[in-house]
Amino acid sequence: MTVHFIGAGPGAPDLLTLRGRDLIASCPVCLYAGSLVPEAILGHCPKGARIVNTAPMDLDRIMAEIATAHAEGHDIARLHSGDLSVWSAMGEQLRRLREMGIPYTVTPGVPSFAAAAAALGTELTLPGLAQSVVLTRTPGRASSMPEGETLTNFARTGATLAIHLSIQNLDTVTADLIPAYGADCPVAVVFRASWPDQRIIRGTLADIASRMDGDITRTALILAGPALAAEGFDDSCLYAVDYDRRYRPQSADSQWAGWRPEDEA
Ligand SMILES: C[S@@+](CC[C@H](N)C(=O)[O-])C[C@H]1O[C@@H](n2cnc3c(N)ncnc32)[C@H](O)[C@@H]1O
Repeated sequence: MTVHFIGAGPGAPDLLTLRGRDLIASCPVCLYAGSLVPEAILGHCPKGARIVNTAPMDLDRIMAEIATAHAEGHDIARLHSGDLSVWSAMGEQLRRLREMGIPYTVTPGVPSFAAAAAALGTELTLPGLAQSVVLTRTPGRASSMPEGETLTNFARTGATLAIHLSIQNLDTVTADLIPAYGADCPVAVVFRASWPDQRIIRGTLADIASRMDGDITRTALILAGPALAAEGFDDSCLYAVDYDRRYRPQSADSQWAGWRPEDEA
């Protein structure tokens, strides 16, 4: 029997992959991280499924649940918010499963930074302004940061920063970023992207803290960098009229002249 790890997306129940939905529907047991996974997604579980909220459980108890379901011959849907590749605690569960000899699969989900960018209607990589996105966080009660992974270091790159798990540290975040990005650098805070009560607060590094509602204390992303409010960026070459490329050769001398999609195979 198999444990299917499924990225449950940022919150909206329809921001779930078809594969994820079908796997949930096929598993008689569902373990979900209830602090962020919306209950509506559990509607895809089959009738009579055993549905367990793991938010109040420790790792040993979660693994015991999995071991029991496995011994009973049941497939398990294991849901975490967003995508599983960042801050999902999937790594430690997979390590235990490998030790226990229990097979698993991993199905990606829509990460919260993508949902936040969609809510803002913003491309995070704009030509000439930012070509990298750093997914990061600040230290929390349960997590220190490896040396070198500091906001001041990341800020030196000028990349767009998507800062997770840090809304409670907003003052420190802005103080760390201002020296590299400048006080007028655009910032957006997106609270519960894709949820019905989603909220967006825009500002600059200098004033974002004063624009915040006091009640936003979790489930918010801080996005910062020049791409956030830019209009004066270059068009990409990709769609430039005279850009010579495989799919749009510009002359008979082009290296791509006569190229057909079948040649790719
Ligand atoms: C434990 S991490 C989970 C990240 C998740 N695996 C992902 O792919 O986005 C939780 C943090 O992600 C961010 N987050 C998760 N869902 C969000 C949402 N719908 N809107 C804004 N931020 C969200 C917040 O910064 C929150 O503190």
